[in-house]
Amino acid sequence: MSEIELSSSFELPCGQMIKNRFFKSAMSEQLADHDHNPSEGLNTLYSLWAQGGAAVVLSGNIMVDREHLGEPRNTVLDDHSNLEKYQAWVQAASANDTRFWAQLNHPGKQSPKFLQKLPVAPSAIALEGSLQLNFNKPRALKEDEIWQVIAQFANSAALAKQVGFQGVQIHAAHGYLISQFLSPRHNKRDDQRGGPLENRMRFLLEIYRAIRKEVGDNFPVAVKLNSADFMNGGFSEGDSITVAQALAKEGIDLIEVSGGSYEVPAMADGIQKESSKKREAYFLEYAKELRQSVDSPVVLTGGFRSASAMNDALAEEACDLIGIARPLAVEPDLPNKAMADNGYTIHLRPLSTGIKKLDEMVLLNMSWYEAQFDRIAKGQSPKANLNEWYAAWKVFKNLGVYAFKKRRA
Ligand SMILES: Cc1cc2nc3c(=O)[nH]c(=O)nc-3n(C[C@H](O)[C@H](O)[C@H](O)COP(=O)(O)O)c2cc1C
Repeated sequence: MSEIELSSSFELPCGQMIKNRFFKSAMSEQLADHDHNPSEGLNTLYSLWAQGGAAVVLSGNIMVDREHLGEPRNTVLDDHSNLEKYQAWVQAASANDTRFWAQLNHPGKQSPKFLQKLPVAPSAIALEGSLQLNFNKPRALKEDEIWQVIAQFANSAALAKQVGFQGVQIHAAHGYLISQFLSPRHNKRDDQRGGPLENRMRFLLEIYRAIRKEVGDNFPVAVKLNSADFMNGGFSEGDSITVAQALAKEGIDLIEVSGGSYEVPAMADGIQKESSKKREAYFLEYAKELRQSVDSPVVLTGGFRSASAMNDALAEEACDLIGIARPLAVEPDLPNKAMADNGYTIHLRPLSTGIKKLDEMVLLNMSWYEAQFDRIAKGQSPKANLNEWYAAWKVFKNLGVYAFKKRRA
């Protein structure tokens, strides 16, 4: 057992010091302007999170290619971006000695029909079941296109450093493009990028190397990795450990543990294993194993609600940092509160309009949180008892009837 406290500082392999053990995980905000640049509202939201006490605040996923969005109001960081708007965002989010990092992503086939006619993926395999109503079948990327995507990640990382972000995270989890390459279920290529894990992880390693080349050794480069995708014939915990070890060998600064995809949303609901149900943090047992297997620091994300569970995870050496997402939408100063009181806990009620199909159609589990971001962006306080029908109505209003019908289940 270790005696590390939530308030203890931490040094990353690249030398960056962070002031405590709280890591605000990525949450796509849906607050970019129409050109996919950060808005004033985003600045307001992030200055609140900076004051809330987390050592590292991660942005919601920023897309590396404006032709491939995961959601309509994603931010995009590329050569067409307004860098001054990015600088203003960084300035707001870096107050209070907060390290503001950019999460970089490409959605691959997890881009809904109303945004993407022809999504791309490692192989032309559609998403499963009812998701097919809302997502088009992708086409397989060609080798030269894959190198373009790698260059896009590297370019976005270079721009992130240029505008003042203090780190970047590669989103290799949750079923997006990189995670599609890692999965033997989604990647059926017969070239050097398919088949054995060594081939399936090539894309991620090449992205990491290309980014490192751009940002240098003293700049944090992290990854968000699935513990597993929880699908038959999919990305397993054994695969995940091997990928983490390869990244650790290359010098990754931080590995954030999550799990699942749109097909099996374990990142939001946890997993049904008996050993895991007893634990507040969904992927705690896996994180413990990972931490024994790599020298790189580990962040564990998903399910943390009480200061005691967070302290226990640190004491059991399951992780070095505590990843928190949804609780920060209703309690932006959770880190300060949890550091001050070991009895602190937050209860997030299950969300439903009472109509399951509608909940799925408007992605209530995300849109309710996005409605909180929208409130904060307008200078209002978050509202824990915000009505689910209001969040559903906002989706309808923002996307219009067509998109409402088509939004992913
Ligand atoms: C509204 C919303 C948006 C999210 N967007 C992202 C994202 O952009 N990138 C990402 O890696 N995870 C995203 N997540 C997942 C969270 O980072 C986190 O893994 C998950 O919510 C579990 O952590 P929690 O139990 O502390 O909320 C999002 C979650 C929510 C609720």
